[in-house]
Amino acid sequence: MKRLGILLSGRGSNLCAIAGAIEAGKLDAEIAVAISNRPEARGIAAAAERGLNARVIPSRGLDREIYDRLLIDELRANGVDLVCLAGYMRILSGHFIREFSMRILNIHPSLLPAFPGLDAQHQAIEHGVKFSGCTVHFVDEGLDSGPIIRQAVVPVFDSDDADSLAARILEQEHVIYPEAIALVLSGNFRIEGRRVIDQRGS
Ligand code: GAR
Repeated sequence: MKRLGILLSGRGSNLCAIAGAIEAGKLDAEIAVAISNRPEARGIAAAAERGLNARVIPSRGLDREIYDRLLIDELRANGVDLVCLAGYMRILSGHFIREFSMRILNIHPSLLPAFPGLDAQHQAIEHGVKFSGCTVHFVDEGLDSGPIIRQAVVPVFDSDDADSLAARILEQEHVIYPEAIALVLSGNFRIEGRRVIDQRGS
């Protein structure tokens, strides 16, 4: 069984969606460890309540590469095959990304390449787009720039603010993240340039 390492900094709803997909038999994997860089993150309490191996490794005040070496040690100690960023609000060092090359996924609350970085839903509202959504992608050394595995689209209504849009997007995040993880773990894809091509059923 493939072993996931989940990194988070906040609420943890994507962690719960991944755990739920595993419990429902939709995702053949196990969560080997969930790690938060913030002690107060609700997501890490949620992970512990679910009986998962939940760790806090505080990042405050630590140099990025030193911190990332602590993360790598913990992930390796838990035999992690695939790292899933789930609301992990810290940029990873090049060292970390090379250690887990093409084995790190991220979920981002916009249709990349639109609105990378922070407050993507706010950026979408301010820009006046009529549709937004979410993206699961491989992590490379750029900001939210790696090859796209899966996306989902949601409408943006005139009455929306960043919170209402974020809630609509989040529902789709919870659908596409487990699906993207399943594809990557299956190994049934190939990458041509930037394109991730699903080979299941072909
Ligand atoms: C999600 O909306 C995720 O897409 C976003 O943080 C939220 C985490 O929610 N991630 C980013 O903005 C990454 N740049 P969660 O803690 O409930 O899973």
